[in-house]
Amino acid sequence: MSRIFTLLLAVALVSCQTKQVKTPIAGLTADNAMVVSAHPLASQAGLSILQKGGNAVDASIAVQFALAVVYPGAGNIGGGGFMVARFNDGSIDALDYREAAPAKATTNMYIGETGEADPELSTAGHLASGIPGTVAGLEAAHKKYGKLDWKELVQPAIDLAINGFTLTEKEAAGLNRVADSFKKYSTVAPDQFLNEKWEAGDSIWNKDLGHTLELIRDNGRAGFYEGQTANNIVAEMERGKGLISLEDLKGYEAIWRTPLTSNYKGHKIISMPPPSSGGVALMQLLNSVSEYPINEWGWNSTKSVHLIVEAERRAYADRAFYLGDPDFVNVPVSELTALSYSTNRMESFNPEAATPSTAISEGTIAMKESEETTHLSIVDREGNAVSVTTTLNGGYGSKVIVAGSGFLLNNEMDDFSAKPGVPNMYGAIGGEANKIEPGKRMLSSMTPTIVEKDGKLLMVVGTPGGTTIITSVFQIIVDVIDHKMGMQEAVNAKRFHSQWLPDVVFNEQGAFTEEDSLQLVKMGHKFGMRGGIGRVDAILVLPNGKLEGGADPRGDDTAMGY
Ligand code: DON
Repeated sequence: MSRIFTLLLAVALVSCQTKQVKTPIAGLTADNAMVVSAHPLASQAGLSILQKGGNAVDASIAVQFALAVVYPGAGNIGGGGFMVARFNDGSIDALDYREAAPAKATTNMYIGETGEADPELSTAGHLASGIPGTVAGLEAAHKKYGKLDWKELVQPAIDLAINGFTLTEKEAAGLNRVADSFKKYSTVAPDQFLNEKWEAGDSIWNKDLGHTLELIRDNGRAGFYEGQTANNIVAEMERGKGLISLEDLKGYEAIWRTPLTSNYKGHKIISMPPPSSGGVALMQLLNSVSEYPINEWGWNSTKSVHLIVEAERRAYADRAFYLGDPDFVNVPVSELTALSYSTNRMESFNPEAATPSTAISEGTIAMKESEETTHLSIVDREGNAVSVTTTLNGGYGSKVIVAGSGFLLNNEMDDFSAKPGVPNMYGAIGGEANKIEPGKRMLSSMTPTIVEKDGKLLMVVGTPGGTTIITSVFQIIVDVIDHKMGMQEAVNAKRFHSQWLPDVVFNEQGAFTEEDSLQLVKMGHKFGMRGGIGRVDAILVLPNGKLEGGADPRGDDTAMGY
């Protein structure tokens, strides 16, 4: 019985519905400029900046501050993020405003007396927070590229925080879900999220956050990293035995980095370098599949899924071993992203059968010594493009609301490897390269990406989703380039994800036909269901020059343009 039973069980874990090969839904189109973000009020804030003549960087700043108010599960000033930009002269840039470990952090800080890592300490409460990077990042972006006055960019968020706004159904449900955690870790007043009965349509405001944003509007980064806000953060740390100090805050700097670029079937891919693993792994995946006729094989066909899962297995094994903060460890970026490296890696690919993950380890490189995030995509009327992914890590971060300042702190320390071989909250395993060290940035999967074709902008794309970020961005690129999908169609398409360990192909309902699922199980793949994979927000430049938005229906995501 066992083989038939195993097959039946495995098939039950994948979709048994008709495959949604193509959802014929066109996204919103616009002639001039567009913003796609996780919340309609944040998209509105960005659109009004674009209409006032602000550029894509200006709009991305306004959207991020607005998200910190209306989308507190992931929008933030207490977290960090990455920005990839491409300007209309073809120049590109990348900004790293990832959180960093406090100076008092130690490699074994989450390991208890038994020698085991304690996941609660790295995911909730004060010890889980890295030094926030968002405000420093937004100021650095504005100083280098901003066109409108800084104050104009912060003001929409202040208005939302002080005058209040209406909750969507998803937002109300999210706040109700975490009410107990807020009570456990925070001391804030009831009007600031501490309600278990929020309903869609309720009005909510956050005057403390409005005041903090006024300090940032009037003083720039000093309004956050010094003075009253910094004192409030440090007072929180003292209350909850956290590590962030006044010196950590004052010393935090966003870092300009050189974007990674590679070629996929005649397209230039522009993405985030370490400390994100996103760009490196995305390029490895694209290189690994580039020699195969995915389009002929068909969308999510047995052959395509098998190839993609095998490529993912290998890329994620490399991620676990080689990737970390490049200011602390030597990450062999050019070796990993070389086409020849992935071609060699795929030599062990067996077209007939799955390779067990236990049989895969990191590849050999000669110089070896050494559930919440949010994405926004913006194109302005001059054709400048900005791709930003920003996060508190888990939904509502550490669940610590800074008393008197009204914002949530991140739980990004969980993205470090607490102990070699011990998975973090996304099941990602890390090693030496991503161990905790004072001042170091934890490894990320965030993959803000821009695609260019024939020297012109083609697509702006990114998503939340922890380790599934990389594979979601990868699938969107393949869906548009190989399967010729439109933007909204690619965003809607059902997704799957695998990451070496655990040795499981996670999939959304409807991702595969029953027949393909059976075939893949016979080849040795194991499956697991996931509710939703990613919330992709993306923009495609259509052949007629118009912009098509792809706003993910998995959330409240909204495209707006003019
Ligand atoms: O940086 C990272 O890779 C994670 N902290 C991202 C977390 C995330 O995407 C959660 N969202 N669903």
